[in-house]
Amino acid sequence: MAEELYQVLSRRDFLLRAVAYTAMPFLPARVFARANYPTRSIPSTGERLPVIGLGSTKAVSQLETRGTAGFKTLLRTLLDGGGTVVDTWSRDAALDRLTGEALQTDGMVDKLFLATKVDAVGAEAGRAVLERTRQLFGKTSDLIQVISLRDLKTQWALLKEYKEAGKARYIGATVSRDGQHADMMTFMRNERPDFIQVNYSVVETNAQTGVLPLAAELGIAVSINRPFMNGSYFSQVRGAKLPEWAAEFDCHSWAQFSLKYILAHPTVTCVLTETTNPKHLLENLSSAYGRFPDAAMRERMREVVQFL
Ligand SMILES: NC(=O)c1ccc[n+]([C@@H]2O[C@H](COP(=O)([O-])OP(=O)(O)OC[C@H]3O[C@@H](n4cnc5c(N)ncnc54)[C@H](OP(=O)(O)O)[C@@H]3O)[C@@H](O)[C@H]2O)c1
Repeated sequence: MAEELYQVLSRRDFLLRAVAYTAMPFLPARVFARANYPTRSIPSTGERLPVIGLGSTKAVSQLETRGTAGFKTLLRTLLDGGGTVVDTWSRDAALDRLTGEALQTDGMVDKLFLATKVDAVGAEAGRAVLERTRQLFGKTSDLIQVISLRDLKTQWALLKEYKEAGKARYIGATVSRDGQHADMMTFMRNERPDFIQVNYSVVETNAQTGVLPLAAELGIAVSINRPFMNGSYFSQVRGAKLPEWAAEFDCHSWAQFSLKYILAHPTVTCVLTETTNPKHLLENLSSAYGRFPDAAMRERMREVVQFL
């Protein structure tokens, strides 16, 4: 097997896979074959996206103190592992410059599906953020979203203008709290965006009774945030034994447990997992392979985490 792999993979690819196999020996060899990485389509165009992406908030927040090397490694790991989706947004010029430097290393940005956000109040401020993003990230964003529905009316008008001018391929809006779901659904009904982003996991299941069915009905692509509740999920499951029946849907870790729960929902287009650790990213990417839990199994999964 090793000889065969050396013949078809570059040395870097091989090393990455070797690290992954050491970390997760239970995974089959085909797991990290980039060409076969599972994708789902964006309803408005049919374009296909890898089902696991990188949420970059934590990695970007460390750029000023730790430098760009760690973030560049994460981006390479994402691409080598078959992913392309990176979710980020503009903070200030200094941080955006560092983010852009990492994104543009070895031309990686051209291979990424770059999802950014506008976080501003007022048209002028929104435009300034979007122009700085375009300039410093080195690419027209594939997707731009209004962050947390903030200043929605003004920023959404701006995004529509950007899309029309060819400065964004897709536009939408994000929320990350259950309390925002009603407003998100109103926005979806009124504006029919290309994309929305919403919180959803085996613990935070609210989206499956409102936002997700509506997205399916209206043909809106959905990216998921908080798959691990920003890390608090791991505190909840720490020390608990993974149920043996998780193997029935090819799940071998608590990270995969939440990701497979999310991916089992057919309306989910892509799950954004935030990490600073390449091994975690590979583990998260691996969740896209193998079997997924059915409805009865998903009910069982919810019950298990509820009592931890
Ligand atoms: N309103 C909005 O637009 C909004 C709000 C929230 C989030 N988001 C987006 O969604 C992304 C993800 O959501 P989130 O920020 O709530 O983070 P999350 O993905 O729910 O959790 C991140 C935490 O989980 C840990 N982790 C990740 N993979 C792991 C693994 N395999 N094993 C153990 N620990 C693991 C990470 O630590 P390590 O670094 O140690 O791996 C990190 O502390 C964000 O980056 C952002 O892009 C958007």
